[in-house]
Amino acid sequence: MDADFGSKRYLDLTFHIQTFGCQMNKHDSERIAGMLEGLGALPVATVEESDVTVFMTCCVREAADVRLMGQVSSMKNVPLRAGSPLQKRIVAIGGCIGQRDGGKLLDELDHVDVVFGTNNLASLPSLLDAAINDHERTAETVEESDAFPTDLPTVREHSWAAWLPITIGCNNFCTYCIVPYVRGREKSRPLEDIVSEARSYVASGVKEITLLGQNVNSYGRDLYGKPRFADVLEAVADTGIERIRFATSHPKDLTDEVIGKFATLPNLMPALHLPAQSGSDAILKAMHRVYTVDHYLGLIDKLRDACPGIALSTDIIVGFPGETEEDFQGTYDLVKRVGYSQVFTFIYSKREGTPAAKLVDDTPRSVIQERFERLRTVVEDGALAYNKASLGKVVPVLFEGPSKKEPGIATGHSPENINVHAIVPEGCSIDELVGQTRDVLIDEARTWYLRGRLA
Ligand code: SAH
Ligand code: SF4
Ligand code: F3S
Repeated sequence: MDADFGSKRYLDLTFHIQTFGCQMNKHDSERIAGMLEGLGALPVATVEESDVTVFMTCCVREAADVRLMGQVSSMKNVPLRAGSPLQKRIVAIGGCIGQRDGGKLLDELDHVDVVFGTNNLASLPSLLDAAINDHERTAETVEESDAFPTDLPTVREHSWAAWLPITIGCNNFCTYCIVPYVRGREKSRPLEDIVSEARSYVASGVKEITLLGQNVNSYGRDLYGKPRFADVLEAVADTGIERIRFATSHPKDLTDEVIGKFATLPNLMPALHLPAQSGSDAILKAMHRVYTVDHYLGLIDKLRDACPGIALSTDIIVGFPGETEEDFQGTYDLVKRVGYSQVFTFIYSKREGTPAAKLVDDTPRSVIQERFERLRTVVEDGALAYNKASLGKVVPVLFEGPSKKEPGIATGHSPENINVHAIVPEGCSIDELVGQTRDVLIDEARTWYLRGRLA
C-alpha cells in the first residue's frame, strides 16, 4: 500500500461513497472513507457535490445488480460541482461487481475511471492518483490478498457502534450463491488482533460491537486447525463492551459451545440471525447447505433453552430451481413453527457461474410470486407475535437518533435487536440520548417496531 496518510494530497477534493449490499461492503466503505479522509478529502452527502464518487457494489441477486448498474450509468450526466479542482468527476467502482467484472466495466462505462476488487481496497488511493493526475483508467482486482485489510483506518458511521470483521471470504459454496466467487476463500483474523481492535473501541466509547463474517462459526479453522468462534466471543466479552452481536451464522457450524455463550456472557445480546434458506430437506441438499430441517430445529430448541426469549431471525429463498409446492410448504411450516422476530425473504435469482445456474428452473414466475406472498403473511404474523411479548416490559434501548418521520420520538434497538421508538419527555434532548442506553416502558407492539416511553 502506498497511501501516505501524512501528505494530505487530496485536500480540496470532496468524495461520496454509495454503498450497496451487506455489512462487508458497509465496513469496507468505512475503511475507504478512513483512507480518503486521511488524505485530506472531505466527505459529502451527494454525487452532485462530489469530485470523487465511489460505488460499493453488490451482485448477490440480479435485481440489485441491474438496478445498481443503471444508477452508475445514469450519473454520467451529473455536472461537476462549481469550484471543483478537477476537470471531470472521478468515478470508481468497487465491491463485488468490481471484483466480478473487473476491466469489462471500463469497456462498458466510459465515465468510469477506476475499478477495484474486494481484496485490494488499499490500492484505491494510488488508482485514484493515476486517474486524477495522469487521466489513466485502471481496473485492479486480485484473486486473494495475503493481508487482512485491518491496517486501514476507518471512519465509522456511528460513534457508538462498530463492525469488527473476524473472517473474510467464504468456503461454503451454497449452490445459488455468488459470494465465494467474489469474496474469495475464508480467511480468519488472528484472535489477538480482534481483541486489540475491540479494546480500542471500548476505550473510545463504543457501546456495541458486531463481529462480522460470512460464516463466523467457522472462524479459526484456517489459522488454528479448528473453529474457535466461542473463544472470540469470550475474549471480546472480556473487554467489557456493553453489547456484542455477530453475523452471519451457518447452521452447520453452530456449536453447543457457542450456543452456551448466550447463557453465560451477559453482554452477548439475545438475538441470532440463523439463515435457514429452506424448510425442505431436498432443497437444502440441492442448495448444498449440509444440514436437515430436523438439525436446524434442534438448534432452535437448544438456543431457546440456553436463552429463553432469544430473538431469532433468518433468510429464506423462495423458488429455488425444482421447488415443489410440498417443498415450499416445508418452508412455510418452518417459519410458522420457529416464530422469527424477522425474516428476510428473497426470490431465487440465477447467478451465472454458480452451480444452481445450470439447474432446470421451470416453476412459473406467478407460482413463485404467490408463494412469496403467502410466506410474507406468516412472517408478519410471527414478527408481531414476537413483539407483543414485550408489551408492558421495561427494555434497555441503545439510542441512535431522532425518528425520521415523527418529531419528539427517539429510536434505538433493544437487546433483541428490535427497533424501539420512544417518546422523549419535555426537557430531555434526543441528542443527549444518542449512544446512551436507557430503559423504555413498552406500551405498543407493531410488526417491525415497538413503541414506548422513557422510563
Ligand atoms: N453468508 C451469509 C449471507 C449471504 S448473502 C449467509 O450465509 O447467510 C445473504 C442472503 O442472500 C443469503 O442468506 C440468501 O438468503 C440470499 N441469497 C444469496 N444468493 C441468492 C440468490 N442467488 N438468490 C436469492 N437469494 C440469494
Ligand atoms: Fe453464500 Fe452460503 Fe457462503 Fe452464505 S454461506 S456467503 S449463502 S456460500
Ligand atoms: Fe453483496 Fe458482496 Fe455482500 S455480493 S451480499 S456485497 S459479499
